[in-house]
Amino acid sequence: MDDKTVFQERLEKHYDELKWLYCELYPGREDLFHELCKRLERRASERASELKKLDQKRISDPDWYRRNDLVGMMLYVDAFAGNLKGVKKKLDYLEECGVNYIHLMPLLDSPKVRNDGGYAVSDFTMVKDGLGTMEDLAALTGECHRRGISVCLDFVMNHTSDEHEWALRARNGEKEYQDRYFFYDSYDIPGQFEKTCPQVFPTTAPGNFTWLEDIRKFVMTTFYPYQWDLNYRNPAVFADMTDYLLNLTNKGIDIIRIDAVPYIWKELGTNCRNLPQVHNIVRMLRMICEIVCPGVLLLGEVVMEPEKVVPYFGTVDKPECHMLYNVTTMATTWHTVAVKDVSLLKRQMDIVSKLPREYVFLNYLRCHDDIGWGLEYGWLKQKGMDEVAHKKYLNDYFTGNYPGSDSRGELYNDDPRLGDARLCGTTASLCGIEAAEERKDEEALKRSVDCDLMLHGYMLAQSGIPMLYSGDEIGQLNDYTYRDNPRKAADSRYLHRGAFHWKDAALRKKPGTVQNRLFSGIGKMEELRKTYKVFLNAAAVWTLETYDPSVLCLVRELEGERFIGLFNFSPWGKTAWIDEPGMYHDLISDEMLEARGVLMPPYGVRWMFKVD
Ligand code: GLC
Repeated sequence: MDDKTVFQERLEKHYDELKWLYCELYPGREDLFHELCKRLERRASERASELKKLDQKRISDPDWYRRNDLVGMMLYVDAFAGNLKGVKKKLDYLEECGVNYIHLMPLLDSPKVRNDGGYAVSDFTMVKDGLGTMEDLAALTGECHRRGISVCLDFVMNHTSDEHEWALRARNGEKEYQDRYFFYDSYDIPGQFEKTCPQVFPTTAPGNFTWLEDIRKFVMTTFYPYQWDLNYRNPAVFADMTDYLLNLTNKGIDIIRIDAVPYIWKELGTNCRNLPQVHNIVRMLRMICEIVCPGVLLLGEVVMEPEKVVPYFGTVDKPECHMLYNVTTMATTWHTVAVKDVSLLKRQMDIVSKLPREYVFLNYLRCHDDIGWGLEYGWLKQKGMDEVAHKKYLNDYFTGNYPGSDSRGELYNDDPRLGDARLCGTTASLCGIEAAEERKDEEALKRSVDCDLMLHGYMLAQSGIPMLYSGDEIGQLNDYTYRDNPRKAADSRYLHRGAFHWKDAALRKKPGTVQNRLFSGIGKMEELRKTYKVFLNAAAVWTLETYDPSVLCLVRELEGERFIGLFNFSPWGKTAWIDEPGMYHDLISDEMLEARGVLMPPYGVRWMFKVD
């Protein structure tokens, strides 16, 4: 079949629904819909033959991302290896980490100074100066594909930077470009929006609008003042942004992380989050990818409560995102570290494991952003924990301001009015490794490394795709140099975005070092995860009561394989009072044992596989 026919067939499959949704957003604009289809055809015809082969392979194996063999890592190109060519040279290291999915943090052209770590894009068709070129990106994805590594990139679709060509032309008075954003002459409408629209960065960027003195207009800026919200009510915005997305997938990007997607549609009188039109757009993007680049996956960045997250999977007939972040589990995991009581985490696991197996979650401990305390407060309240007081406790605990805590985090967007601060820091520093090393306290160091390993063991035992944060595999600590950098000082998220320490990474081979313990411990669990099919998404998963508040028990079962994971979230020796028949082999400690009254060392983790 020639390319044209392939395209036509794929288009036909989705044509009616796509047109329907398009005309729902842009009534009466069939003319523009036909133009859009032509642009899709152009992008489809440009797609390189290697990528088309990959598309075919994935079409014939649609579960390729639902198995147990993917391990992801997110990294900043400059912090990790200087530039894109540097990353290409370091692929051996990533493979040694067991990683076959890399999320490259934003690398497109963005302002030198005010750029929100690359999340303010000035040109979607260019790589940022200093990181390389679009050709370097294509060369990197090509080499990754040869090695069986998939590449994920952010698509920052809610806004552009104020240095983007559209923004410059808008500022220059061109109405056509002002219409791509939300411009207002007076505060009347912005004021109405502010009544119902919460703030994302209440301290570092208060309000949802920015006054542009030079042209005497307000512009909507949900995030930072230099990130101008795009107006998707304008069909030109949708068409051009879609085209930019397809340009990236044609450079070999396999996974598109649609950044801040809940925010892309604004409506007066609403909170401007998760509106039905957002789902309409995501569904259209999904169909567009299936038409032009069917091997590509959509990863939604939906950092919201579970009821808001799950709808982004869409339905079986009308899927939206392929994958979403398991954000509530992440936040609940850290809550559990602080309270040493697994009941909320157990409840969260029970909720997640009842969701359809087709859903794929990305599990993670840390990422480039802060930890927001999105917990189930209604339930905690029944246990006597008040939301504001509990957030304060968590923040005190993780900033080391609570007796007995060795955590070294920093607050983020501390808004004293709301008591709603979030938290920054690397996994290792939050687990206490930094404080223990400073005190040269060997006992505390062992304990904090054990805690770090236990958390990774827990993350890796979940269904979905484990996503490591670069540096965590060697226990990298907080980087305080951001405080001396005026471009970064106001944003404590840079605390955990430091340069990768290759010297420390070399210690992964030296027995007895923190790096060696973490690198080999995490690596071993990744290997087991890839080996046993009980870690497939299709496995049944449930929790067991351990009758110890600090010990979580997870059971996985598939086709005769049975796994029991035990996780001690406390610094004390414990017993998991489970009572399951049969003998088990704990492949972490290499002990044979019965699954009854299992002894758990402080911060212990056991991965027990049934042997008879
Ligand atoms: C996402 C990113 C975050 C960024 C924001 C604005 O939430 O993860 O880092 O600040 O979008 O683009």
